[in-house]
Amino acid sequence: LNNGLARTPQMGWNSWNFFACNINETVIKETADALVSSGLADLGYIHVNIDDCWSNLLRDSKGQLVPHPETFPSGIKLLADYVHSKGLKLGIYSDAGVFTCQVRPGSLFHENDDADIFASWGVDYLKYDNCFNLGIKPIERYPPMRDALNATGRSIFYSLCEWGEDDPALWAKEVGNSWRTTDDINDTWASMTTIADLNNKWASYAGPGGWNDPDMLEVGNGGMSYEEYRAHFSIWALMKAPLLIGCDVRNMTAETFEILSNKEVIAVNQDPLGVQGRKIQANGEDDCQQVWSGPLTGDRMVVALWNRCSKPATITATWDMIGLESTVSVSVRDLWQHKDVTDNASVSFEAQVEAHDCHMYILTPQAVVSRSDV
Ligand code: GLA
Repeated sequence: LNNGLARTPQMGWNSWNFFACNINETVIKETADALVSSGLADLGYIHVNIDDCWSNLLRDSKGQLVPHPETFPSGIKLLADYVHSKGLKLGIYSDAGVFTCQVRPGSLFHENDDADIFASWGVDYLKYDNCFNLGIKPIERYPPMRDALNATGRSIFYSLCEWGEDDPALWAKEVGNSWRTTDDINDTWASMTTIADLNNKWASYAGPGGWNDPDMLEVGNGGMSYEEYRAHFSIWALMKAPLLIGCDVRNMTAETFEILSNKEVIAVNQDPLGVQGRKIQANGEDDCQQVWSGPLTGDRMVVALWNRCSKPATITATWDMIGLESTVSVSVRDLWQHKDVTDNASVSFEAQVEAHDCHMYILTPQAVVSRSDV
C-alpha cells in the first residue's frame, strides 16, 4: 500500500501467540518497558501490538468501541501515550466481520467510526482479522478500512489477516502493508515448516510497501528446540516476513534473546532492496536438505542451508542454483557464528548442518579485476 509505511517489513511484538486473551494494560506497558530495557527496541522492534480481547463485549450506547473496563481501565489513549513516551508505536486489532475471532465487536460496516476512534487514541497500526465475515469476499471487506484509515490523516500501518484464503498476494498490494498468506502458526516444527513452504509460493509479490505475512514468531515459546527456533527466525528474515515477536519478552531466556537480537540476520530482513528470498533447492529424503536464497543490496546474496532431515547433513549451494555467474568468487560470512568463513569461494560452497538447524550466510562478490588494471 502506497501510504509511505512498510518500506521494510514491520518489526515489533504482538500479544497473541503467548498471551492469547490473557492481556491487560500492565502486560502491554511492561512489554514496552522490556523491549526498551533489553535493547530489542534499538534493534528495530518498535511496534507493540495488542491483539484480540482488548475490547469490551459490546459497543457503547453511541455505537463506539470501548476498551474492556477491567483489563484496560485507563483506556487506549493513555496506553498509546505511554508507549509513545518510550519511543515505540502502539498497534491494535479489529476484524473485517461482525465479531472478532474471540467474539468482541467487529468493524465491518463501522469502518469510519472505528478508524476515527483508533486515530483519536493515537494508534499507529491495525491488524484486521477475518472472522464472522458474512461470506462477503475479502476484496470487498478490506478496502473500506484502508480508505477509512487514510481519511483519518494519521499514518496507520494496515496489516491484513485474511489467512491467505483469497490469495491476497494477488490483490492486497493496493490494500494493505502486509497480508497473511496462511492459517495461524502454532509453536511446533510441523506448523512452522508447513507455513514457510506455503508463504514461499508468493515470493514474487512481496516488496517495499507490502509484504507476505507467514504469521508471527514463536521463538521463545517453548515448543521448538534452539536449532528449530534459529531456523524459524532465519527463514522468516530471509522471506522478508514481518518480525513480530510472539513470546513474553519480560521473561526471555538468554537463548531466545540471542536469536531475536541477531543483528546480522535482522539486517537481511531489513535490507532496502526488499526482495523476498525463496527455496531454490531441495534434495534428499522428503526434500529435507534445502537451500534458500535471495538477493541483497550491493550485489550480495543471502543463502540459508536448512537441514529439515532428522540427521546431520552436508548441504551444498552451487552458484548455478543461486544465480551467480560461474566465474564469480565471493567472500562468505556466517551470520550465526558471526565469522567470515572464507574470502574466496567459487562455484559452490557447502556445510555440515545439524538436524533441524539452519546456517545463514551472506555472499559478497569480490571486486572484479578488469583487464586494463592488470
Ligand atoms: C485469528 C488470527 C490470529 C489471532 C486470533 C485472535 O485466529 O489469525 O492471529 O489474531 O484470531 O482471536
